[in-house]
Amino acid sequence: MSPNAAGIVERTLVLLKPDAVARGLAGQILARFETVGLKIVALKMVMPTRDFVARHYPNTPEWIAGMGKKTLETYKDRGLDPIAEVGTTDPMKIGEMVKAWNIDYLSSGPVVAVIFEGLHAITTVRKLCGATMPFSADPGSIRGSYSSTSAVVGNATKRAVRNLVHASSTPEEVAHETAHWFGPEKPCVYRRADEDILA
Ligand code: CDP
Ligand code: MG
Repeated sequence: MSPNAAGIVERTLVLLKPDAVARGLAGQILARFETVGLKIVALKMVMPTRDFVARHYPNTPEWIAGMGKKTLETYKDRGLDPIAEVGTTDPMKIGEMVKAWNIDYLSSGPVVAVIFEGLHAITTVRKLCGATMPFSADPGSIRGSYSSTSAVVGNATKRAVRNLVHASSTPEEVAHETAHWFGPEKPCVYRRADEDILA
């Protein structure tokens, strides 16, 4: 891919979460990204510890409240009362609850960590993943193709929403998450045969 001073060629981090691996979907999901033109430049399978996955997410008050707000939105869409569901309407309290469930979820089995490189990689990968809640995700997206679960289901089962994939959403998340999962390992540099056509 031709180097681009405007920063159109980006790198981003994707995790195939334990449900994707356990369901045998790793290959199919990787193919979705590769087919769009995103190049695998680093890849590993790991069995992460609870402590390790706890440090994957930003854990800032804004991020915790954001997860709580997503839960509240699902309740609103479904006409459900948050008090009846989780005993509070406070996005922070709901977010903290979801954070703990996420630690259980991400440490429950092997995870595949990948760094993709390509045009508008951060946004393109998020678009391919679809909305956080598979129930609301576009049917053609990865989350919408392989699941229909939602925050309502997650809360009813006291578990994180099993939505198959994680993808960095900002350059800051990319920096933190690639360092977290790959440390000082350098991504591979090579040309894909179709790069001139895709660019
Ligand atoms: O993963 P994404 O960036 O789309 O969403 P997030 O708001 O950063 O939340 C991180 C993860 O927490 C989600 O991918 C879900 O697995 C989980 N989550 C949940 O289980 N229930 C919620 N109400 C919100 C998030
Ligand atoms: Mg996120």
